[in-house]
Amino acid sequence: MIVLGLETSCDETGLALYDSEFGLRGQVLYSQIKLHAEYGGVVPELASRDHVRKMIPLLNELLVQSNLKKSDIDAIAYTRGPGLMGALMTGALFGRSLAFALNKPAIGVHHMEGHMLAPLLSETPPSFPFVALLVSGGHTQLMAAYGIGQYEMLGESIDDAAGEAFDKVAKMIHLPYPGGPNISKLAEQGDPTAFAFPRPMLHQGLDFSFSGLKTAVSVQLKKPESEGRDADIAASFQEALVDTLVKKSVKALKQTGLKSLVIAGGVSANSRLRERLQAELSKIRAAVYYAEPALCTDNGAMIAFAGYQRLKAGEQDGLSVTTTPRWPMTELSNPSLQVES
Ligand code: KG4
Ligand code: ZN
Repeated sequence: MIVLGLETSCDETGLALYDSEFGLRGQVLYSQIKLHAEYGGVVPELASRDHVRKMIPLLNELLVQSNLKKSDIDAIAYTRGPGLMGALMTGALFGRSLAFALNKPAIGVHHMEGHMLAPLLSETPPSFPFVALLVSGGHTQLMAAYGIGQYEMLGESIDDAAGEAFDKVAKMIHLPYPGGPNISKLAEQGDPTAFAFPRPMLHQGLDFSFSGLKTAVSVQLKKPESEGRDADIAASFQEALVDTLVKKSVKALKQTGLKSLVIAGGVSANSRLRERLQAELSKIRAAVYYAEPALCTDNGAMIAFAGYQRLKAGEQDGLSVTTTPRWPMTELSNPSLQVES
């Protein structure tokens, strides 16, 4: 089965073709970073308009790259949520309409389920059950995953998401959006022990809080001693955030008794996070799994793949188009429990 995946939940237009027999056949990605740069963040209306402009040219490019025709597509998966309403609508309407025109099934996919399953596309894929640390621009969650749609929330951020904290701190030290990769690069030249930033809620269950850390960085930046020490600030901030993610992940593994940790979402591309998890998990004989960097941040491949998993289990959407900007992952259906009619 060849599934076209469409990702348009935020500021990336991502399309990919996943072939259940041969794996990923091709993928294209257009990032709107430049479009939103002058505003310091994503402008929803501009994002929607740009997705509309890019979708058809990108689909044509993808078909040429993959050496496939529209008629080779067996099903279409698009991001149904969570995300920006207008941006989601563009991909959902395009995907649902194209599927109707081609007389093929369509399915709306949960963006975070897409992220979580992306490591299954890697050379050493994890297998269920596992603990998932989902760390993106909008989410920070620890989830126990027992199978497709069998998710139990273990903990989540009560304020800023990890990626959001990276982006906000980057802005404070005048690094461009998206902040994560830029902070990470600058941190390589800094001392992670230079400033002792707080690790909020470290000993309180599995929930996270990053807004205090962000404030601590902002206060530190105003002190004269911080002058010319952006790299030390970046490294110390990254260390505090990574430390929190690592310690809570280890706690979640111990609490559930599971031995595999899957990290997914934009922040899972962070090399310090990967390095620290590798070291700490080996001490408790657990393993960490992640996707290749291009599949950590938003992309169409993860949507095609997650859509395929659900289509294979017999799910598909009707002709109406639904987008769900707020959509807890724990509300997803468990396809193995669905009674066939
Ligand atoms: O998953 P994603 O592409 O989009 C959302 O679903 O939000 O995640 C984007 C987030 C941004 O906040 C970005 O700063 C962060 O992921 N990010 C990183 C890195 N690469 C992307 N954060 C830390 N280190 C990175 N290397
Ligand atoms: Zn994402």
